[in-house]
Amino acid sequence: MPYTLDEVVPWGRSLEEYRRMFALTPDELAGARILGCADGPASFNAELTAAGGRVVSIDPLYAFDADAIGRRVDEVFDTVMDQTRANLDEFVWGPVVVDPDHLARIRREAMDRFLADYPAGRAAGRYLEGELPALPFADGEFDIAVCSHFLFLYTGQVSFELHLASVLELCRVAAEVRIFPLLQLGSEPSPYVLPVIEGLGRVDHAARVTPVDYEFQRGGNRMLRCYRA
Ligand SMILES: C[S@@+](CC[C@H](N)C(=O)[O-])C[C@H]1O[C@@H](n2cnc3c(N)ncnc32)[C@H](O)[C@@H]1O
Repeated sequence: MPYTLDEVVPWGRSLEEYRRMFALTPDELAGARILGCADGPASFNAELTAAGGRVVSIDPLYAFDADAIGRRVDEVFDTVMDQTRANLDEFVWGPVVVDPDHLARIRREAMDRFLADYPAGRAAGRYLEGELPALPFADGEFDIAVCSHFLFLYTGQVSFELHLASVLELCRVAAEVRIFPLLQLGSEPSPYVLPVIEGLGRVDHAARVTPVDYEFQRGGNRMLRCYRA
């Protein structure tokens, strides 16, 4: 049985993974106003802020305090790792992620980094509670919005209508939107990618699929870049 989850789970990646998933350049990391949508317990915000970047993360998970988020991560950790170990051939193992034990360690490190930063970041307004498809931001408030491992990945859990409305909303608040991966759980291509691109085209937004230097789900080395009309 392919990798599957009943619901969207909190799971966190690092700044280095975001940099590669979204082909973020040194100039963008240093100066762009970046929105991390569905960042969950990723350490992207913590690490980029420490490096001097400008980033706001938004996720429904941020309704909760650090203890509650930490407990929720603990609850799902073994399920996610069990699914990974049961479907090893869906992933690329190599120098970046050596094996499942290594994966467990780097995910824990990223999520611990997030949890350590979260109370201060929440107080500073860097972690905001909110959810797609309606974001509490002004038109064009960000240069770039990134959305990792929520849209397209959870094709089985999130409707097409919510996908299209979400990408349109991200295009409203950011000049450019980058979404990764374009695969769903189980590492099959999401059937929503082309209809989302067509939906954007109907309102004169541009979208294109581009390769990136990151592949952990086998075949998942492409992102969708979208631009408002
Ligand atoms: C698998 S985690 C990905 C975390 C992070 N982006 C990463 O790649 O490491 C998925 C996240 O999507 C968030 N999420 C669920 N529904 C959402 C919605 N409607 N809008 C925004 N985020 C949502 C969850 O709370 C969770 O933190």
